[in-house]
Amino acid sequence: MAKEILVKPQGSFQGTIKIPGDKSISHRAIMLGAIAEGVTKISGFLEAEDTLATLAVFEALGVKIERPAKGEVIIQGVGMHGLRAPTKSLDVGNSGTSMRLLSGLFSSQPFDVELSGDKSLSVRPMRRVTDPLNEMGAEIACEEDGTPPLKISGGNKLKGMIYDLPMASAQVKSAVLLAGIYAEGETQVNEKGILRDHTERMLEGFGYDIRYGDGSAKLSGGGKLTAQSIVVPGDISSSAFFIVGACIAEDSDLVLENVGINPTRDGVIRILKLMGADIEIVREYQAGGEPVADLRIKYAPLKGIVIPEEWVPLAIDEFPAIFIAAACAEGETVLRGAAEMRVKESDRIQVMQEGLVKLGVDAETLPDGMIIQGSQIQSGTVDSHGDHRIAMAFAIAALRSAGDIHILDCENVDTSFPEFVSLTREVGLNISELS
Ligand code: S3P
Repeated sequence: MAKEILVKPQGSFQGTIKIPGDKSISHRAIMLGAIAEGVTKISGFLEAEDTLATLAVFEALGVKIERPAKGEVIIQGVGMHGLRAPTKSLDVGNSGTSMRLLSGLFSSQPFDVELSGDKSLSVRPMRRVTDPLNEMGAEIACEEDGTPPLKISGGNKLKGMIYDLPMASAQVKSAVLLAGIYAEGETQVNEKGILRDHTERMLEGFGYDIRYGDGSAKLSGGGKLTAQSIVVPGDISSSAFFIVGACIAEDSDLVLENVGINPTRDGVIRILKLMGADIEIVREYQAGGEPVADLRIKYAPLKGIVIPEEWVPLAIDEFPAIFIAAACAEGETVLRGAAEMRVKESDRIQVMQEGLVKLGVDAETLPDGMIIQGSQIQSGTVDSHGDHRIAMAFAIAALRSAGDIHILDCENVDTSFPEFVSLTREVGLNISELS
């Protein structure tokens, strides 16, 4: 991906496309496949920097992984206790999911592991995982201010525990559960709000005994995983840019095939429908233990809303795109209860507000959200601060802008969606990469 993106105004989204694989599910498929017994075959795997970072970690731990074709991955599982000591520090780049989930999985291995990341990941909070894991008996050190690198000492025995999540984080829930499969006794995580349940679904798919639902997940350590074939559905978070684009651009009529619509992830659809969007679920089916659908989205005038707070975790990654929808809606949109957005790949409340204001949109930050007045989006230059989802959100804003939008610091679009430029171009966006 080039450093900068230039998007020319107007246009509409037309056609039928398939969205690349879900990032959260792709990470988990590699992790569980690696420690399963037997050969796991993944299709629809997201080949992006974040998920490839997870794959490279397991290769460094001695797991044989083949990639015979695009989106296909074959993992020779080594079993629960077959990982080997790495010879170097493991760099997971921009990927918070890799660092947090792996800290759980590696917290009781017989060897030491060091996990490091890029500039953005190196300032993200990690005590949220090291605290509960250390309480279970792990020994994980981070920097004094709670940031990476994480130094995990090997050879510790863990004890299961009941953990009430202090924040709405599926990454923390998953880290504790992945430590729990190696711990003595029972581990239970009680959620704050409804959180994505891909870890639970996939553990179940690999034959691990787990009970989950109604805001908690519970398992006992000492079980084993049996290799599986996994079909990864399309990523609803990547789809969000196309869904919003088609909602805001007049004459749009777009079909997205193969989108994961897990009810713990579908907040973007719920929120846009409440704003008046025309989104139709054309065909619904199951794949890889997850509900999947084809979505048909047509342009419809949107109105501002107060976003129901209980839906916030269901759309936590989609707010950059939803803010663009709010800017194109009639009237005021209010988001509260989304303070977690401030500790993502960037402070997404601050960075989105700055960019929206630069484009002439009336947007005001709240400590835990944003108030946006529907406005005419103008032209201008915005800085994505190296955050993939900010860059992609401002790219689709051009569908309703008065002039060109120039977006800076876009390399990290490759962390989740390397095909973004080619796919948006295919359905009608006038987008180019500048070097
Ligand atoms: C993810 C959980 C979310 C999300 C991230 C992926 C996951 O993070 O923002 O992009 O795969 O579990 P939090 O759990 O920290 O909210």
